Amino acid sequence: MTTMIQYEVKEGVAIITLNDPDRPMNVVSPEWLDEMIEVIDKVAGDDSVQGAVITSGKAAFMAGADLKGILERMENNITLDEALAFSRHATGMHRKLETCGKPFVAAINGLALGGGYELCLACHHRIVADDPKITLGLPEVTVGLLAGSGGTQRLPRMIGVQASAPMIVEGKTVRPAEALKLGMVDAVVPADQLLDAAIKAIKDGIDPVRAWDKKGYQIKEGKGLLNPIEGFSYSVATGKIAAKTRHNYPAPIVNLDAIFEGTVLPFDKALEIETKHFARLMTSPEARNIIRTSFVNKGRADKLFRRPEGYDKATFKKVGVLGAGLMGSGIAHVTAKAGIEVVLLDSKIEFAEKGKNYSEKIVKKAMERGRMTQEKADALLAKITPTVDYADLEGCDLVIEAVFEDIEIKADVTRKAEAVIPETAIYASNTSTLPISDLSVASKRPDRFIGLHFFSPVERMPLIEVISGKDTSEETLAHALDFVGQVRMTPVLVNDSRGFYTSRVFQTFIHEGMKMLEEGIDPAIIENAGKIAGMPIGPLELTDALTIELPWKIVKQSIAAEGDKYTLPCAYNVMKTMVEDQKRIGRRGGGGFYDYPEGGGKTIWPGLKDLYPVAEQQPEVEELVKRYMHIQALETARCLEEGVLTHPADGDLGALLGWGFPAYTGGTLSYIDTVGTRQFVEDCEAMAEQYGARFKPSAWLKDRAERNITFYGPNAG
Ligand code: NAI
Repeated sequence: MTTMIQYEVKEGVAIITLNDPDRPMNVVSPEWLDEMIEVIDKVAGDDSVQGAVITSGKAAFMAGADLKGILERMENNITLDEALAFSRHATGMHRKLETCGKPFVAAINGLALGGGYELCLACHHRIVADDPKITLGLPEVTVGLLAGSGGTQRLPRMIGVQASAPMIVEGKTVRPAEALKLGMVDAVVPADQLLDAAIKAIKDGIDPVRAWDKKGYQIKEGKGLLNPIEGFSYSVATGKIAAKTRHNYPAPIVNLDAIFEGTVLPFDKALEIETKHFARLMTSPEARNIIRTSFVNKGRADKLFRRPEGYDKATFKKVGVLGAGLMGSGIAHVTAKAGIEVVLLDSKIEFAEKGKNYSEKIVKKAMERGRMTQEKADALLAKITPTVDYADLEGCDLVIEAVFEDIEIKADVTRKAEAVIPETAIYASNTSTLPISDLSVASKRPDRFIGLHFFSPVERMPLIEVISGKDTSEETLAHALDFVGQVRMTPVLVNDSRGFYTSRVFQTFIHEGMKMLEEGIDPAIIENAGKIAGMPIGPLELTDALTIELPWKIVKQSIAAEGDKYTLPCAYNVMKTMVEDQKRIGRRGGGGFYDYPEGGGKTIWPGLKDLYPVAEQQPEVEELVKRYMHIQALETARCLEEGVLTHPADGDLGALLGWGFPAYTGGTLSYIDTVGTRQFVEDCEAMAEQYGARFKPSAWLKDRAERNITFYGPNAG
């Protein structure tokens, strides 16, 4: 009895329809594999059946592996043997299908990715519907896995090593027309003729024996590394991958190895090699971390899994945006894009209009690139009304304030807006540094006051830090999350605190980099260590881009607010020297740690070596990498301990999407789990001795280490 697969026989051809009743998409799971084995036996054992067509009863053909199921195994510390068995199960089903003696045709009616396309590859013929929305490919590498089930072996044998390598190693996906050109499918037919074409192909006769199962088969580029051209392209490719991934992501090279090692071997031996590589990646912390945060927890956050229960879903129709500067214009754009009416208010009409102009530029570019129709562009722009008149805010369900970072100005606009908007409306501030509970003092209804902290540029940064102040109600939080969902962004939940979560932790990275200057570390090493750690750019360049003035202002603000209670950051002296003495505030001010010549590019500011002479003895790069990663992770743990964060997934997602903490780590807390809590605490204690008290682990963290408590998995606490 199969539950995910429908089976019927039409004109002597078995029609196998994939239709998992419990999921929106068909996925590869062990249960599905068992059902497929049953179905293959049925086809093979029925003399009245000439062959089989596999199609799907859903819009998509098949999405790929059940990543949630895989993650569950990974969280439970899957062993290498278990991973081997898991892989053999899938590979075995596909091989059985391929060698059962009857022809199978894939009738690809929707997207077929990863395991979905691997099923197509195992079939003897592939026909895809002529629908430009369909994508085909093997993107497993992007989640740290291998294109298993024969994917790394069949595709190179079908379209060649050179053509298949980028598909597998970069996880490129293609549309039907390109798939046909590459030889990834055999035919493209109109969607309504797909099934008939597949049945006809079987009737016309499809060879049920694959080329590689015939005697004397030789893959075109089958000498692998023994062939000088192949050997050369392998070396070039591994070099390129290493330069791009800095050895932080094992999957691309392992996929490449599987291709090059497997294609010189007979097919079944090749599958065995592939299985071993698959198991190696399935047990790697990188794959687990990527799947956990970038896939599973990102998906959950997008579905608003942390939304407080018991409140009706809010749908926003009219939103006011106060301040049409850099942030306000971006917020207005994403809101209008989601079909919501926006009132964009500034102190002068030309400022408000300039804010709308920001959207005009974005839609113009999108139209030029063929990504937006005139109609959609017009509709989006028609949603934004620039104004200086608070009366226009009447009827807004939500107001998002993005005026200057000044508590008095913010209080003033809060009062003016609240005088007009309905009692039930939510008032949100996009402040980056001022505590929400301080700002809500100006509000008549602090329970409806919340922080919605967007990132710049808003239209390209999909994260929103949702900050609850001490008076913010659960209902306001629930409805603010509904807004985040409506504009299709990813929320992380944070409680009020100075710098909230992302800015607070991110600063530890740039502070650490600046501190290294003072220690006499070569700026080039400081920067490269940041990149080797996987951060998008080095800390000095990053600080220049933000302006050194910005973190310096935050320090001054914190001193003013907290006085002696505030611990000066390790980069205090460097920031003070650069901003106050040298007047080198960063790129926007003409230069900071770097000079920016007019013709483009950048060079380290020559004056830096006079201020911070480079020491003769330089530390190991690994040590610097460890400092960067540990300090950010430690600060995140503090946020969790203090209740600024209430769920590890928020910390990890915020790290990845908010400031580019590298995906292979799964985020700052997953990083601690990967290092091991005990080891992490030991490292921090040693670093506290060497570099300063900022590395001191708290009693809370030490206790967790002693009891071996992790943030995820069976020991999560
Ligand atoms: P901005 O200086 O580009 O824009 C502020 C806008 O507010 C200007 O157009 C100004 O004319 C307007 N404004 C000032 N006072 C006003 C008033 N009384 N009534 C109406 N409009 C008024 O600043 P930006 O960068 O857009 O920042 C805005 C807020 O967003 C700040 O609170 C900032 O901390 C926060 N933020 C900034 C980020 C960034 O990367 N720039 C990131 C996240 C938050």
